[in-house]
Amino acid sequence: MSTTHAQDSAPLPPPTNSLDDLLSRNVSRRQVLRAGVAGIAGLLPIGCAVQGGGSDTLIGFASVPTSWDDKLTIPPGYRSQVLYAWGDATGVQGQPMPAFRWDGSNSAADQALQAGMNHDAIEYFALPPGSKSSTSALFAINHEYIDDGLLHADGMTTWNAEKVAKAQASHGVSVIEVAQRGNRWEVVRPSQYARRITARTPMTLSGPAAGHESLRTAADPLGREVLGTINNCAGGYTPWGTYLTCEENFNMYFANAGTIPPEQRRYGIGASSVYRWNEFDARFDAGAHPNEPNRFGWVVEIDPYDREWKPVKRTAMGRIKHEGAMVTIALDGRIVVYTGDDERFEYIYKFVSAKPWNPQDRAANRDLLDAGTLFVAKFSEQGQGAWIGLTHGKNGLTAANGFNTQADVLIKTRQAADTVGATKMDRPEWVAVHPVTQDVYLALTNNALRGTDKQPGVDAANPRPRNAYGHIVRWREQGGDVSAHKFRWEHFVLAGDTQSTDAAGRGTVKGDSFGSPDGLWFDARGLLWIQTDVAAADLRRPEYARIGNNQMLAADVFTGEIRRFLVGPKDCELTGVTMSPDGKTMFVNIQHPGELPGSPRNDPAKPRAGSNWPDFRADGRPRSATVVIQRQDGGVIGT
Ligand code: FEO
Ligand code: CA
Ligand code: CA
Ligand code: CA
Repeated sequence: MSTTHAQDSAPLPPPTNSLDDLLSRNVSRRQVLRAGVAGIAGLLPIGCAVQGGGSDTLIGFASVPTSWDDKLTIPPGYRSQVLYAWGDATGVQGQPMPAFRWDGSNSAADQALQAGMNHDAIEYFALPPGSKSSTSALFAINHEYIDDGLLHADGMTTWNAEKVAKAQASHGVSVIEVAQRGNRWEVVRPSQYARRITARTPMTLSGPAAGHESLRTAADPLGREVLGTINNCAGGYTPWGTYLTCEENFNMYFANAGTIPPEQRRYGIGASSVYRWNEFDARFDAGAHPNEPNRFGWVVEIDPYDREWKPVKRTAMGRIKHEGAMVTIALDGRIVVYTGDDERFEYIYKFVSAKPWNPQDRAANRDLLDAGTLFVAKFSEQGQGAWIGLTHGKNGLTAANGFNTQADVLIKTRQAADTVGATKMDRPEWVAVHPVTQDVYLALTNNALRGTDKQPGVDAANPRPRNAYGHIVRWREQGGDVSAHKFRWEHFVLAGDTQSTDAAGRGTVKGDSFGSPDGLWFDARGLLWIQTDVAAADLRRPEYARIGNNQMLAADVFTGEIRRFLVGPKDCELTGVTMSPDGKTMFVNIQHPGELPGSPRNDPAKPRAGSNWPDFRADGRPRSATVVIQRQDGGVIGT
């Protein structure tokens, strides 16, 4: 098996791009300079980057209409192709390449060599390493969770260890090799890089919490090695070319039938688990193995270029339901990672590395994310904000309050944030950082409980009660330095239905209606892509009657215009987007087509009841998939 250790000293550029790329891509120079001056000098009020005036816009495609159809809708002049769907062979060199069985009868061993379910984040890592190739790459793709009704031929009618093993093999991450051949993209099989990382793959715990007594288990008495990663939602990438995957709703895999301790309750562990792994894999019994849940809820670093390198759970970035690990670089070269905790009334975090990264020596960055300071955001009423350090011994994070060490602070990150009085947000999802201004955008997807009985009321940052549509907040760090301790913020948009008769329901949308923003991503031109995730049950509520299936929109953050680019098939969500460095190919993930309203799983007797995308076979079932989108004329996406 080939490895790539020899490449450790070669610097790898990030998959997306710099100001040079931006200018060479024929963006309006005036816009770039306007943004650049505002961002780099950090002197102008935040609105100046928005109110540039002039009629030039970054958006050049025709808006697509809303749709309830079981199909992918894209603008005129574009084409799409399904690239890598659940069950497609991963192409691991030296291993079988099992074909997908349309009746759900693939074994656990098959599934461990195939695409998992429910694709989420996707990142592009150019091949060869260190290049900026737009025709050859590795993808790291999250497989967030599963629908057992579709995963097994008879769903959960019977339940056994093989099914648990298959479910675990359907989680984690795919690393696949891809290449453009003519007008089509293909998965390269076999590939020396391809691999599946699952809920059973050994990974290292590192950073300040590694080895802590509350991370030790019978199987791992040192508290330094975990089997697997689960509920991998959003992610990110580092400038040295590694992938960051986020563990989100890890609590759902654990069951504790006894008395649930407050540490487990704070993270939502309950008496039973819809996934029922605990019945055949004892470590998911959180009563018998109370420390096992402490080993999930981390950001995991994976080297897509080196399949021999063991993934690492980086505890310095805290333990929450991580949604996104957006990496950017401070003025002094330190690494800054923004990450949200996606649950109602949870918080927004920022990690700042202790040392700058080294662009010349890839190996020198290997453990950079193990040391630094974790902060949590406090939004004040007047558009001011502060980052409060979650450092042991400071801000009330003392033994008297239950925090004996920094490891305690990190394992109980939520309790630490409670202690310092951070701002409770409307479900923080993805973060995106503008490639030139470094303004930070964060999606708050929705919060039906805001301002209801016994729940916090509205505040300046979360201004709508029973927030059905969500909003996007943006901020600028003090002095234009992303490592700053203070920031100024404003709402970029309150999402909504522009035809609503209710002013709150209309929000502040300039352009096309949408709600429940989740994925956020800037392309190299500075166009902000917004992906929505309205739960299937909520799509049937009156607020969404005119909005239709989940969709992806583009926002020009200078003019504020938001235009619908794509509508997904029935009851899917859009999540995960990246582009080739030349901007001519977009890769988008379609997750959970056919999700049933209010139910965790489909009926195995009627697998096509909700959707039959993308195969539309009479004997098939809906499959999450990575989709390729290009312009028919070969031009840059979105122009
Ligand atoms: Fe997995 Fe918060 O979306
Ligand atoms: Ca999400
Ligand atoms: Ca969803
Ligand atoms: Ca979501």
